[in-house]
Amino acid sequence: MDGKAIEGVREKLAKAEKVTVLTGAGVSAESGVPTFRGEEGLWRNYRAEELATPGAFARDPELVWQWYNMRREKLAPLAPNAAHTALAWLERKVADFTLITQNVDGLHKRGGSENIVELHGNIWRVRCTECGVIEENRDVPIAIPPACGECGGLLRPHIVWFGEMLPEEALSAAYAALEGCAVLLVVGTSGLVQPAASMASVAGRGGAYVVEVNIEKTPNAASVDTMLVGRAAEVVPLIVGEKG
Ligand code: OAD
Repeated sequence: MDGKAIEGVREKLAKAEKVTVLTGAGVSAESGVPTFRGEEGLWRNYRAEELATPGAFARDPELVWQWYNMRREKLAPLAPNAAHTALAWLERKVADFTLITQNVDGLHKRGGSENIVELHGNIWRVRCTECGVIEENRDVPIAIPPACGECGGLLRPHIVWFGEMLPEEALSAAYAALEGCAVLLVVGTSGLVQPAASMASVAGRGGAYVVEVNIEKTPNAASVDTMLVGRAAEVVPLIVGEKG
């Protein structure tokens, strides 16, 4: 690991009054959460893109819920790793801190982060397709078909599916966090899925110092000031100065 680069990032973070972090599946990899474009494999011959869609849910809500039950079973025993806890530690040191995540696993919250923008929703929340009420639901497995406690309507996962718009509120919170941040840390995201894929360049154009942590080079590279190649759970604790 490049000690000089790490030291440089630590100094930037120590001076910064506004810090924003953008995370993707790679930040949870060492907790055992599979990444999307990794070797996740198929479930009963379906790909995620065939199940996490409004069309699939309209056709066969039971099938989609069975898939989510499988994912809930896999996620339930997993714990936050050193990257999650280091980011929570950083939040306590910085005056204006926002963590934007594409992950739906809820591990940032369990790792102690507070100001979190969940761009793609959360697997432990459900939303009524009739009355729109949103509730936490940690049942593993969830009873199929799950019914709304308020109106009896069918519940769906509170997740942004392929082909759906991101919630306006999350998007505006994310862009407010990117605007004027002194440092943007981009951790464990492939830089392939919009709008997260363009957030590094948005922050960079606004004057942010952009740092990326990933096990490999990504399309964010053009907007990145310092690229740290390594695993999130190793590198993030070093750059936030928690240890080392
Ligand atoms: P991807 O699976 O596309 O990318 C994961 C990234 O993490 C890759 O760039 C890996 O190189 C990197 N990575 C893997 N292990 C790592 C580690 N231990 N430390 C650091 N980096 C590591 O996941 P996302 O970018 O999160 O959307 O994918 C974005 C969105 O695409 C997801 O939120 C999902 C999917 O479609 C929805 O579900 C709406």
